Amino acid sequence: MRETRTASEERQEREEPRGSRWRRRSRPDRIYYRDLVVERDQLERTAAPAAPRRRGWLDERLGTRAFYEKYGRKAFPVHTTFFFGEMALFSFVILVLTGIYLGLIYTPSNVEIDVEGASLPQAFASAQLIESIPVANLFRNVHHWAAHLMIFSILLHTVRIFFTGTYRKPRELNWALGVVLLGLTLMAGFVGYALPYDSYAVTATGIGYSLARSIPWVGNVAAELFFGGTFPTLGSLPRLYTIHVLVVPAMIAGAMSIHLLGVIKQKHTQPGYARKLAEPGRVLGVPLWPYQALLAGQLLLLMFGGLFLLSAFVPVHPLDAYGPPGAGASDVKPDWYLLWIYGFLKMIPSEAVLSTPIVTIGPEFLGGVLFPGLVFGVITLAPWLDRTNHRGRRYEYLEPPSQAPARLAAGVGVLTFIGALFLAAFYDEIGLPLLAMWAIALVAPLVAALLAYAWAWSRTPDEEAAKFDPTAEEEVRVGSVAD
Ligand code: HEM
Repeated sequence: MRETRTASEERQEREEPRGSRWRRRSRPDRIYYRDLVVERDQLERTAAPAAPRRRGWLDERLGTRAFYEKYGRKAFPVHTTFFFGEMALFSFVILVLTGIYLGLIYTPSNVEIDVEGASLPQAFASAQLIESIPVANLFRNVHHWAAHLMIFSILLHTVRIFFTGTYRKPRELNWALGVVLLGLTLMAGFVGYALPYDSYAVTATGIGYSLARSIPWVGNVAAELFFGGTFPTLGSLPRLYTIHVLVVPAMIAGAMSIHLLGVIKQKHTQPGYARKLAEPGRVLGVPLWPYQALLAGQLLLLMFGGLFLLSAFVPVHPLDAYGPPGAGASDVKPDWYLLWIYGFLKMIPSEAVLSTPIVTIGPEFLGGVLFPGLVFGVITLAPWLDRTNHRGRRYEYLEPPSQAPARLAAGVGVLTFIGALFLAAFYDEIGLPLLAMWAIALVAPLVAALLAYAWAWSRTPDEEAAKFDPTAEEEVRVGSVAD
């Protein structure tokens, strides 16, 4: 007889003596565990030869049973923060649905037409028509709020993954793809600005156009390709509309599908409590069908309800606020999700120009292209910059943020810096000198990072054994005994 035990089995037994799992029945996670046990029993039963089952109509034609066996049983860990990704996904679905409706009325053209004696760009007039139809106006507001919600939930999702260190092996590529998704979503938001073609749209898009042109060597060509010629021109709206409704959503849908396939293939990471309740390599959670599907359905309905309520009472960007182009829109600031770039641009003095015989680099390129590019680059590289990401170990559990003081400090520092840039967007309006603004932007993140580090360090146990181990090492056979 051979007795083989894995290192992970031994560790699990040390942490949780046999039988104690069953004593945890009063814990709220009990129901999920029991479901999983039931499911496992079923699996074992189906593995044994059983009486042939009568196949259903759909199953006979499409093999739905096999599909369910393969994917319907996928376990989803239950943890509030795991819904942020789903919220981003559902926001996207809501955006596509409401966008299709709006597309039935909207006209992507800036040709001037006569509307009751006034000459207006056709796009502006069609946006006015949308505003004048109550249900269309409601959908326009839902579309706008859903865009905010999508970006906000992506940010929450990113922050959760970062602070719990779950971007480490084996999920580095999915993290990098996530950064691409974030960039694409911000781009969709930016391109959407132009469509109502009011005075705000033209000014804000014009700023984007001049930022694109500031890229050395390729700027002019890139800007004209993206904006359909020298912005604003007759080619601009059809180009931006196609990018907004087709090119970027198709790219988001494609990237999202690969991202989710990655999650299915690599499995979710799990909340710390799962380590004590399920063997390493097993995901503790509710099966996709029907439990997770029901939870997701509830979330979708809640989001619909919340967005419609909000949209009914808080209109977003009414056309009257700025009027048609030419009415003057001097106080143009981007929405909150691009405000950090605007804030940084404002902090760069206009004299900051670097001239060499081959290239001239101005503040627009530094603040509006190079800076966001660097931020995105550093975020993409986070899994490779994180020195706790040791090769050979797989990180399968959420690590308590306080256990990684350096990561916590870096994250808090970056978030405080972004917060300071929001302030920078208004610094002159609140009477702050530029020098003081620079001091705040540099010192506040350092102080916040130090405080976060000190807090985490004071909570980290001294002994290595007392720390939570977020890894699940590969199956290493130990203590193999032959009789
Ligand atoms: C359109 C945007 C996005 C959607 C719809 C989306 C959706 C999801 C979903 C549903 C999951 C599984 C549940 C969860 O862990 O929350 C997930 C996991 C993951 N996402 Fe995203 N995501 C998006 C953007 C991002 C971004 C911006 C990043 C990072 C920069 C990212 C990195 C990851 C990683 C590393 C995982 C695996 C995490 C784990 O298992 O703990 N995602 N995503």
